Amino acid sequence: MTSSTRILIDTDPGIDDAMAIFFALASPELEVVGLTTVFGNAHTDLCTINALRLLDIAGRPDIPVAQGASRPLAMNYRGPVAFVHGEDGQGDVFLPPSTRQVEPVHAAQFIIDTVMAAPEDITIVLLGPFTNMALAMLMRPDLTSFVKQIVVMGGAAFTSGNASPAAEANILNDPEAADIVFGADCPIVMAGLDVTHSITMTNDDLARFGKIPGPRAAHLAAIVPYYSGFYRDRNHVDGIYVHDSTTISYLLAPHLFTWTELPIRVDTGHSVCRGKTLPALHDSDEEGPWQGRRPVRILTSVDARGVIELEFDHLSR
Ligand code: RIB
Ligand code: CA
Repeated sequence: MTSSTRILIDTDPGIDDAMAIFFALASPELEVVGLTTVFGNAHTDLCTINALRLLDIAGRPDIPVAQGASRPLAMNYRGPVAFVHGEDGQGDVFLPPSTRQVEPVHAAQFIIDTVMAAPEDITIVLLGPFTNMALAMLMRPDLTSFVKQIVVMGGAAFTSGNASPAAEANILNDPEAADIVFGADCPIVMAGLDVTHSITMTNDDLARFGKIPGPRAAHLAAIVPYYSGFYRDRNHVDGIYVHDSTTISYLLAPHLFTWTELPIRVDTGHSVCRGKTLPALHDSDEEGPWQGRRPVRILTSVDARGVIELEFDHLSR
């Protein structure tokens, strides 16, 4: 990887979003050019407040934040998941408000402006529902021909969902948007449940945050117990599944992953399979609903201990 992969992160912070954002900010190999916010783990207004707070903690007031959509393209917002991320979206630590201001443009316009200011140079990382990116693509249909690549946390190609038996949460929160984005005209990498459910940061791992000096690790140490409590109670997992940070691990160390490359459609029907990410499994499928779609790099396996140590290594710097 070159020394400066420029990334724009679209996010719904969110405890694991905070981990991913801090991981990216701790990586000299990456330059975070902006954060855009979306509903998902919490309402958009709160996600925006959290994005600003996280940049305050990280000491990065130079990074712009643009607020985005407050509802999906074609349905009502399914609502916050306080039982996963807390009433404040950050493990109920109730941080003080930021004094920073958001950018005076919608996130979709911010994405367009950022990409067009540096054609073929910007990697877009999606950590929440894909609504802002889909809106940007609808506003500027040739946009993704100028995007370097899109790396998403979302979907479940060959495994079951986590928000329904069929669907992963970021996709179920806006299936129409996800189907638009998987039709993008640029390389797409999908870090979905196929791989993130193979990465468990144990409670022993999580305790390491408390021993790392500095405000980023101190915040993570304060918020991860809420998240691991959810996993203990709902999934009987010792620790947490590492979702959003997997996008950053892939950017830093793609050699730690294996993948398959297939076009993807998203079920936008209103059946039990709504939000399912469906790869084209047979050559003949590509003449059907998948026709004209570029193959998506679907991450399927990972050196789990490798990516966990990578994250701790970076966050310890
Ligand atoms: O399914 C996991 C995803 O849903 C993560 O992005 C998490 O933050 C939530 O948004
Ligand atoms: Ca997220």
